[in-house]
Amino acid sequence: MTAIDNRRVDARDKVTGRTAYGADRVPEGVAYAMFATARIGKGRIVSIDTSAAEAVPGVRLVVTRFEPGELGEGSFVMGGGHGFQSFQPLLGDRVAYRGQPIALVVADTLVAATEAAELVTGEYEVEPFAVGLDADGANTVVQEEAIPLPFLADVKVGDADAAFAASPVRVEGTYEHAPQHQVPMELISSVVEWHGDRVIVHEGTQNAGALRHGLARQLGIDAANVEIRSPYVGGGFGQKNSLQPHLGPLAVVARRLGRPVKLVLPRPQTFHAASFRPASRHTVRLGADTSGKLLAAVHEVDQQTSRHDLFPCTATEVTSRLYGVPAFRGRQRLVQTDVQTPGYMRAPFESPATFAFESAVDELAYATGQDPVALRLANDTAVDPVSGHPFSSRYLAECLRRGAQRFGWADRNPEPGSMVAPDGSSIGWGVAAGAYPCNVAPAVAHLSASADGRVTVSVDGHEMGQGIRSAIALTVARDLGVPAADVVVLVGDTRVAPQHLTAGSWGTATALPAVQSGLAELRKHLDVPASGDVDVAAAVAATGRDAVEVEVTSQAPEMLERSRAGLVAIAGPEFGEFSSFSWIAHFVEVRVEAGTRRIRVPRVVSVADCGRVASPVTAASQVRGAVVWGIGAALREESEVDDRFGGFLNTTLEEYPVPVNADVHDIDVSFIDEPDPLFNSAGVKGLGEVAMVGVAAAIANAVHHATGRRPRRLPIRLEHVL
Ligand code: MOS
Repeated sequence: MTAIDNRRVDARDKVTGRTAYGADRVPEGVAYAMFATARIGKGRIVSIDTSAAEAVPGVRLVVTRFEPGELGEGSFVMGGGHGFQSFQPLLGDRVAYRGQPIALVVADTLVAATEAAELVTGEYEVEPFAVGLDADGANTVVQEEAIPLPFLADVKVGDADAAFAASPVRVEGTYEHAPQHQVPMELISSVVEWHGDRVIVHEGTQNAGALRHGLARQLGIDAANVEIRSPYVGGGFGQKNSLQPHLGPLAVVARRLGRPVKLVLPRPQTFHAASFRPASRHTVRLGADTSGKLLAAVHEVDQQTSRHDLFPCTATEVTSRLYGVPAFRGRQRLVQTDVQTPGYMRAPFESPATFAFESAVDELAYATGQDPVALRLANDTAVDPVSGHPFSSRYLAECLRRGAQRFGWADRNPEPGSMVAPDGSSIGWGVAAGAYPCNVAPAVAHLSASADGRVTVSVDGHEMGQGIRSAIALTVARDLGVPAADVVVLVGDTRVAPQHLTAGSWGTATALPAVQSGLAELRKHLDVPASGDVDVAAAVAATGRDAVEVEVTSQAPEMLERSRAGLVAIAGPEFGEFSSFSWIAHFVEVRVEAGTRRIRVPRVVSVADCGRVASPVTAASQVRGAVVWGIGAALREESEVDDRFGGFLNTTLEEYPVPVNADVHDIDVSFIDEPDPLFNSAGVKGLGEVAMVGVAAAIANAVHHATGRRPRRLPIRLEHVL
């Protein structure tokens, strides 16, 4: 078999600036749009003065209210719709949250649009608002009662409260996780062009299908007349996983003006214009015998949502599966607050949930005098304790053992504060495990082999930097024995395939099995053997045609139909006879400086079980990125809320600190790389999110080991370890 160059297939184009992102397009005659936004936390618009804005030279249009006939209400992706929230600004007089758009300005230049938007002023009737979990007026509902869907019901196995009460060793703690924003490098942005009755949208999105169908619904037009092009996304992390409320208004003004219109939201506006990771609070109770064998676990979660939508929580889906606990009770409640609807941000529930749960497991290790790795190994399970079925694959114990070995865990003195560096810093070593559900979405794969030897693959999927193009190209390259450079991958474009949402770490497991069956089909049509290297050009020539094309679909027809309508259609993580999860173990060293108490993370060792590794270079990069995200969650990132003002306050990258190079040191990544053939024919599980799960917990556990202080809130600040 030919040796395959494993490198990221789009790396050269990216580093040389050739890659064109959605809104990089500047069509002839383009106009520029900008929102004016509400400066109150909640209330009603009494009047808006647009006269100063309209007087700015170059301003073409200022819209404060769209007519119902031209722009319909939004719809919520978790309620069978297409948007991150149901609430569509610019349709009424309601201000649901700070930062909500109150006017849309379009001008010949970006400068004019920006200046004019700043000149729009509003008069409001101000109402009391609640943004924090504990604010007056925040309203708490029990999720399983408010949204009676089976997958959102509380996990209950046995009588966990009784088992906890009867346990010889008990630990209990409450942990808080700050709200956070995804802050992808690529801002939320679109270019909209009408060509007669047809509208073309260029936008970086994880869900071109939802944009297509959601926009069609809002505009009252046929989805066949909506085309979404999103070949590359400059980071999504969940913030770009559905229709955003700017797109409908943008399409309407582009149609009114008869010009293409471009909108790039300034960074501060993205803090209110799109979803975010909601604030959450977790109470964890663990009961065990004196050897540390778990007897009971209770995990209660309160998670923020908006007034207009119930954004559901599935935090206990993974915490109930980490160990073989015979009795588990989850409880998930939603706290309604005056914000835009929160949403998915990388490992949305799993990272905060695991911070809480794995901190409690660390406490249990201390309470029972067990080593934290040994305690976890002693509670390993091959069977899903919730469904009673086996896991399709679970190499968590192997991740823990290998990680401990690579890290040098055996040299750890368990006594908190006992390990001190030559410069006087306290050294802390912490460990945590992580899990993430394996879901899968339907896919249509179209493969075309041409006489020049190239193979073009069109499939559901969005490239947001995670490496889906590389995984697809390498799958084809390995199968046919052709250079990856000869594989053309078309994704993120509604012209080539339905484009189901790419999220939840199901991208690879969704695209690759479809591509693999496409390859098997292609081989038949090329009349070549079922395996072995193929001379594509010769095989195509032998057919006497210019190109040989095949199309295959994967997953059930009902799922495919939903996907074709731009709706979420996923299966998992329970699949009848088995459950599928990805697993990971993280080992972290922190150094806490003696005088300043500054916390640094000089090294992390991560070992992941994501099934077969489809693209080794991009997979390792995914894990490094996720570890950096975990460092951010543990030590840096918080969307600050001030109860006097509403909304979020630190809406720039200066004030919303993410880890920078100086915060990131050695990250040692390795993979179990064992295929999971039960989950799918390609043997691949998800990676992008499990990679982050447990990082913050391992850092918190390391901080405890260094300082003797148990972090109960993220991010951990200097004052928490003084
Ligand atoms: Mo991702 S947070 O699953 O879009």
